Amino acid sequence: MADTGGNLKGVPREILPGVRVYPNPTEVARAGARLFVDYAWQSISRDGQFCVALSGGNTPRMMYELLASDEFRGQVDWAKVHVFWSDERAVPPEHPDSNYGMARRELLLRVPIPPANVHRMEAEKPNIGRAAHDYEEVLRQHLELDDRGFPRFHLIYLGMGADGHTASLFPGTRVTRQTSRWVSTPMVVKLNARRMTLTLPVLDAAQRVVFLVVGSEKAATLRAVLEGKADPPYPAQLVQPRDNGLKLFLVDQAAAALLESATPQTAGPPPEKSAGTIRAKPGRSK
Ligand code: 6PG
Repeated sequence: MADTGGNLKGVPREILPGVRVYPNPTEVARAGARLFVDYAWQSISRDGQFCVALSGGNTPRMMYELLASDEFRGQVDWAKVHVFWSDERAVPPEHPDSNYGMARRELLLRVPIPPANVHRMEAEKPNIGRAAHDYEEVLRQHLELDDRGFPRFHLIYLGMGADGHTASLFPGTRVTRQTSRWVSTPMVVKLNARRMTLTLPVLDAAQRVVFLVVGSEKAATLRAVLEGKADPPYPAQLVQPRDNGLKLFLVDQAAAALLESATPQTAGPPPEKSAGTIRAKPGRSK
């Protein structure tokens, strides 16, 4: 059954390798939740646990609601899931801008995850630099390190701002050139706010990175990121998982509007291929 945009219900159009277009934000959220379930199952059966970093902002809210719903909640062994964040605002957990606060309300309070498995960034701490070090210790306790000594998440969710930022890696900030720290605390001048964020080397060490991008206001930036043409590159463009890491973009029709013309509709779910400009070696399926 086709929807208004000519998509088969829930079946994405793969308009570029690793770039899946869904008819609307709800289908993007559902696809994101399905990947959570699949990757949790794969990671737990192989490593005994699933270490996932959640993104903030508005876009993932619906995915968190779905994951906590009857449709998905029972498909995850929550006792073996460890939840982290890709970034956080320097506000207390009960503040409306808290990424932890949002995920707690929409997901964590509604699934049987042990509180000890929820690892929030304490970005509200007066000594945020100290809090970043503490968070690196938490990562060291729970995550395997890759061959370069960076913690390797099973999955990291990311969003993208219309300015091309991702996590709290904003265009023109020094943090995008960070090569050794795992967690950084940039001052985002345009927001006049401090943030805590995973750094690029940690994003690049992930086994899988999944971007959720919806809305027409992001269409031009998404095209620039995927075509890798922006100079200097947008932070979202700089995320390049190493060692066969997978990068996927789950986007809605509105965000993909400037990409649409590229390819015809594909039938059926696409194979697991990384997006756009990834250097990943072909062939090994995750
Ligand atoms: C944050 C996020 C940030 C977010 C983008 C997109 O703390 O703000 O982690 O990187 O993903 O700003 O935000 P929206 O989904 O609200 O557009």
